[in-house]
Amino acid sequence: MTFTTLLFERDGRVATVTINRPDKLNALNAETLAELRTAFEAIAADDDVGVAVLTGAGEKSFVAGADIAELHAQDTLSGQAFARFGQGVFNVIAGCPKPVIAAVNGFALGGGCELAMACHIRIAAENAKFGQPEVNLGIIPGYGGTQRLARIVGAGRAAELILTGAVIDAQEALRIGLANAVVARGEALAAAKAMAAVIASKGPVAVKNSLEALRAVHETGLKEGLDIEAALFGLTCGSGDFKEGTAAFLEKRQPAFTGK
Ligand code: COA
Repeated sequence: MTFTTLLFERDGRVATVTINRPDKLNALNAETLAELRTAFEAIAADDDVGVAVLTGAGEKSFVAGADIAELHAQDTLSGQAFARFGQGVFNVIAGCPKPVIAAVNGFALGGGCELAMACHIRIAAENAKFGQPEVNLGIIPGYGGTQRLARIVGAGRAAELILTGAVIDAQEALRIGLANAVVARGEALAAAKAMAAVIASKGPVAVKNSLEALRAVHETGLKEGLDIEAALFGLTCGSGDFKEGTAAFLEKRQPAFTGK
């Protein structure tokens, strides 16, 4: 696939999407958002892709936010549509049936932090910086930040970060659970790809159904979430991958999963 603002590559069952506007610190303009939607819809539909990695070009920035020049032009009505558009794109990523790992190689501010949070796992380089600094611009997070940050780090910490506009480093992001791991500068993409390869080696049906059950944490209460887990557990028990994985254990051999 070729894009104007993204790079797309596939290595085995791992697809890597790189936001490629390094002169603008990979800020998200309308074109980049539309291309992200196209890329992740294609990843969702491609049986040959098992896991995706998302990163930003260069060592300085993952994504430095929504494009402030585009943001400045919004009024009440267009601003709501602007937020809905970005939310819709991020929902495609969060709802992707393949795991999406963010390799946060630098600034993840505003829409960049929201984009990283729409991914299922975040690997941060030591120089990464996370934050929702929208209050500094007289605005609020509009691409899911108020909702996803609270669900990931808890309501109190989300309130502090969003209301002060504080920018935190990778170690603090790790401490509060916003980053899954911190690696050396320049190593986030390699670390994310290594984790992607581990996940891609597992039973595809189990990976897909685990992800769907995990998604219920964001979307339902505990009772409904447990119902969803039980239904997906049953569906998984009906798969060839389940029979193969359990048979391989009992026969003391490596499983050969087919994704069926
Ligand atoms: N939207 C549009 N352009 C952006 C941008 C954004 N969110 N973030 C950075 N850029 C652009 C700058 O305007 C600059 O472009 P120019 O060279 O044409 O002037 C270029 O990217 C480099 O940014 P610069 O500010 O010169 O880099 P820096 O190292 O001095 O500072 C940041 C880096 C991230 C601290 C700073 O760019 C910044 O605060 N960005 C905005 C972060 C933000 O508030 N995001 C939330 C938006 S809702």
